[in-house]
Amino acid sequence: MTSLLDIQDLTITYRGARGHVPAVRGVSFSLQAGETIGIAGESGSGKSTLGMSLLRLLPKETKVEGELLFNGEDILTMKFGRLRAVRWSGASMIFQGAMHALNPVHRIGQQIAEPIEVHNPSMGAKAVSSRVTELLDQVGLPAWRAENYPHELSGGQRQRVMIAMALACDPELIIADEATTALDVMVQAQVLQLLRDLVAERQMGLIMISHDLSVLADMCDRVAVMYAGQIVEVGQGHAMFTAPRHPYGAALGSAFPVIGDPEARRNPRGLAGDPPVPTDLPSGCPFHPRCPVARDDCSTTVPELLPVKAPDEDLRRSACLVAQDGQSIRPSSPVPPTSTQEPVT
Ligand SMILES: Nc1ncnc2c1ncn2[C@@H]1O[C@H](COP(=O)(O)OP(=O)(O)O)[C@@H](O)[C@H]1O
Ligand code: SF4
Ligand SMILES: [Mg+2]
Repeated sequence: MTSLLDIQDLTITYRGARGHVPAVRGVSFSLQAGETIGIAGESGSGKSTLGMSLLRLLPKETKVEGELLFNGEDILTMKFGRLRAVRWSGASMIFQGAMHALNPVHRIGQQIAEPIEVHNPSMGAKAVSSRVTELLDQVGLPAWRAENYPHELSGGQRQRVMIAMALACDPELIIADEATTALDVMVQAQVLQLLRDLVAERQMGLIMISHDLSVLADMCDRVAVMYAGQIVEVGQGHAMFTAPRHPYGAALGSAFPVIGDPEARRNPRGLAGDPPVPTDLPSGCPFHPRCPVARDDCSTTVPELLPVKAPDEDLRRSACLVAQDGQSIRPSSPVPPTSTQEPVT
């Protein structure tokens, strides 16, 4: 069966005045219709570059290598006319910061109608208008909101409008890049629930990009953790959070304070140091300068993404030498366990 999306060895290099920036390095995964995958990682790990490449939205001088198939069609060599059709009716993207993405001088309804009109030129004004009402309803907004300008809506409502626009042409795949990051937690939960319901109802594929592993673990069938442009761990969403098999995934999962735990709130178990600069990557495992369990060979051997023992056995892959040897990826004297994560073994 043809996958909705099939990515093989995707490598993306920005080429600019300040040299070549290898932002994504050898990423491979596939996605079926109705499936959700989360992409987690710190800022700069290559998540947005990966997301934008799927719709060929990167600057034209960017070098993209590897294979990118959408329903079996090659995105990288697709003619522009076909790509335009795929951009709305095949796959669409929800960006962070709806206020900046929406046009402040056009009414909401007009903005949702635009892609419908472009992709269905024979559709009459009445049919377009009722489709806009239907979309507003799907994202939990009353029809009269179509008359509003963006500044008349709250942040959460604007993000709902962005989702309505992304759904306008009934896409098979949605790419949501930090779509709820700017929202407060209550609104974030509502918008996430909305996305979850829509994906289930319409059997869409969803790629959800976030720096927050806990959100992804909750939302997604599968989660891939990126570091320095590579996928360093992938597995089933919840198991990735509760039983990580890469020290970076473990640190990312512990980086958020635990509700009801004052110590965790005062002293969140973040990760020391900064991610590497893509133009100056460390030798061996790119995580070794920050890794709490690094050993001698970590600075000389580049770990491949290989199957490791975990509760989600058939799905889990980790690019960590220690995990591949079946050893614990947690330091022997950790901060006292305060979260739902597995105790140190
Ligand atoms: N247009 C660009 N030109 C050169 N480098 C870029 C450009 N956009 C992003 N980068 C670099 O590529 C890397 C990955 O960035 P990005 O994909 O935005 O990461 P993330 O979304 O995970 O924060 C970063 O080092 C970033 O500085
Ligand atoms: S390979 Fe070594 S440095 Fe890299 S994550 Fe595993 S233990 Fe840490
Ligand atoms: Mg980003």
